[in-house]
Amino acid sequence: MRKSNFKHSLIVLGLLLNSHAFAATPQELLKHYEVQAKQENTAFTGFSADKGANFFKTERQHSDGKNVSCSTCHTADPRNQGKTRANKVIQAMAPSVNPERFTDAAKVEKWFGRNCKDVLERACTAQEKGDFIQYLLSVK
Ligand code: HEC
Repeated sequence: MRKSNFKHSLIVLGLLLNSHAFAATPQELLKHYEVQAKQENTAFTGFSADKGANFFKTERQHSDGKNVSCSTCHTADPRNQGKTRANKVIQAMAPSVNPERFTDAAKVEKWFGRNCKDVLERACTAQEKGDFIQYLLSVK
């Protein structure tokens, strides 16, 4: 318990410093978001790949009138390459096909920040981030 708390602190520190790539594993990131999710919601019961799958695909209407979801750029199948609005290739999101995913805490936070704002017009909760990662890890 103590040892893993220490690891959480290191990840948090990495996020705070934010100046260097901070190597992590998807499992470490999940633990970090779990700590946060428990703080955000005392009734937190764990992350769900099913909820993450829903979150990934569900479209909502942006205030600009367009329907958008995470799949808009990342496609409905996270094993596929995606595309930005400017038509630039985005490598696959599923760690099973792209092992670089969810291995850099600062990068992950940066893109959750941007994309959640872009799609939801708010920050993602730790629950949503954890469900999202849990889902992507489940895609083989
Ligand atoms: C407008 C296009 C677009 C949309 C919509 C989008 N993304 Fe992304 N996403 C990107 C781009 C571009 C990158 C960075 C390039 C890369 O990592 O290949 C990225 C990378 C990421 C990463 C970094 C993962 C890693 O470890 O490398 C996360 C996390 C992420 N997106 C989450 C989301 C979530 C959650 C949503 C939906 C709420 C979403 N994205 C919707 C374009 C998008």
